[in-house]
Amino acid sequence: MKIKYFLPFFLLGIFPVHENKNFYNSKSVTNPEEYSIQKRVVCSNGAVVSAHALASKIGIDILKQGGNAIDAAIATQLALAVVFPVAGNIGGGGFTVARLSNGELIALDYREMAPGKATRDMYIDKDGKARTDESQDGHLSSGVPGSVAGMFALSKYGKLPFKKLIQPAIDLAEKGFTLTEREANSYNGLQSSLKKYNTRRSAFEKDTPWKEGDLLVQKDLANTLKRIRDKGADGFYKGKTAQLIVDEMKRGGGIITKDDLKNYKAIYRKPHVFDYKGYTIVGMPMPSSGGLLLHQMMKMIEDRNIASMGFESTQAVQLMTEVERRAFADRAEYMGDADFYKVPVDKLTNSAYLRERMKDYDPDKATPSTMVKPGKLLKAESEETTHFNVIDKEGNAVSITTTLNDSYGSKVVVGGAGFLLNDEMDDFSIKPGVPNMFGAVGGEANAIAAGKRMLSSMTPTIVLKNNEPYLIVGTPGGTTIPTSVFQTLVDILEFGMSTEDAVNKPKFHHQWLPDVINVEKGFPKDVEENLKKMGYTVQQRYAIGRTEVIRVLPDKKFEAVADNRGEDDAEGW
Ligand code: DON
Repeated sequence: MKIKYFLPFFLLGIFPVHENKNFYNSKSVTNPEEYSIQKRVVCSNGAVVSAHALASKIGIDILKQGGNAIDAAIATQLALAVVFPVAGNIGGGGFTVARLSNGELIALDYREMAPGKATRDMYIDKDGKARTDESQDGHLSSGVPGSVAGMFALSKYGKLPFKKLIQPAIDLAEKGFTLTEREANSYNGLQSSLKKYNTRRSAFEKDTPWKEGDLLVQKDLANTLKRIRDKGADGFYKGKTAQLIVDEMKRGGGIITKDDLKNYKAIYRKPHVFDYKGYTIVGMPMPSSGGLLLHQMMKMIEDRNIASMGFESTQAVQLMTEVERRAFADRAEYMGDADFYKVPVDKLTNSAYLRERMKDYDPDKATPSTMVKPGKLLKAESEETTHFNVIDKEGNAVSITTTLNDSYGSKVVVGGAGFLLNDEMDDFSIKPGVPNMFGAVGGEANAIAAGKRMLSSMTPTIVLKNNEPYLIVGTPGGTTIPTSVFQTLVDILEFGMSTEDAVNKPKFHHQWLPDVINVEKGFPKDVEENLKKMGYTVQQRYAIGRTEVIRVLPDKKFEAVADNRGEDDAEGW
């Protein structure tokens, strides 16, 4: 069984400053051959924080050209598809949660979809064994991509023409950008997978090792982006790009068809909104479990005066662990694409239900996961990835998490089209009880069906204070996403921590199964020992997520903080 908790892109580097020769002639103020990385900014007009400095800077350029936060978010997403192909994408999918300047809250679902030929048991071999090798890599692991449809759906709230938003990405792909040392290492690590899963050579392949300062030029990708620029979403879902995807599927034994591509739709959904001590928390509904899990976890601690326990106290970590355990047990049983499976969102967030859920909670010892089953619903009383945030002075706030799933997704680069396809099919429960690559288990609710969207943990979140944006939060990290967002909110709203500390201090994670608390390097040793004495198994892992936060300060300035775990970058003006 391949369970990949530690994704190589978390190892991408921190703050190098490039000083390479400058022959880049774009009109943009951003120079992809000479840029610096900034971890925190305070500014008045707008801010962008993302996994890559060039993408953040492009977002700010768009704001300066008169675009709003939605325009900047679209340009940032498209730029990430070029400069951060480990997770940024046009061959994957994602979710947007936004608060518009008129106060409207939106949630946009452009999650990948199981192809029409997908079946419940497609990854189970004749001996009944789950083929995680096929759900996690190669052509069969890809769902129908949603990102391009998502960006076009989102653009109705923007002000600038789409052509303008995609041009910086085209320039970056066509003219290239220089690699940091960690990026070079990451591409070097990808070489054997590229050879294994591809029959066409892509821009990422190189016969001698990539090194810092090398220019990565992606001509095929530039041409794909131009087709999207010139033909709209049809430039991806129809015509030449669709043909190249289908040809690639044929070469590698994949099942995505032209009809699958033609029929893909991004869907506006009702955001998952709840109150926490007067703050309004706006999250993503199904098919992401993120909003619902966050809701359950926040409500299970709300009355327990966690503030008095203190950050990283044994008491607080133990309480949050037990809450995480119970929420994730519910995830395994009840959560999946609500268009295919009736997810009992109201029952799972009912206060009597959540009280009952915590009835066997013992502050002095661990409740083993074998004793915590998914909750019994009450009768009708009254649910590699990358995250970025954008805010503008008009009051638009955007929180986007997007992914190919694993680092570089399926490792399949569409021949002649230059982009990586996702391996999102692994987020389905491919066989009841068989963990996915993040160790998450599931059953009926998240079983594979043609046209269904696989359950996600992505948790793009916006917190409103007096109905105005206060925090924009999100992170990659598979199943650690909802627990990282949970911790970040508790750190700021309950412990009163600075944004930088909430982003960068060590995080921990529990997900019911396996029954383990994962802690990051730097997590206090004494707390770890105390937890072990209470019956917990504690394991160290080296990175949990890459959390990005924008906070609106009391003087209305924007503070954007980028995670130190990667080369993430905060820009503002
Ligand atoms: O949707 C999900 O929950 C996963 N596909 C997210 C994957 C992820 O965060 C990988 N990056 N660390």
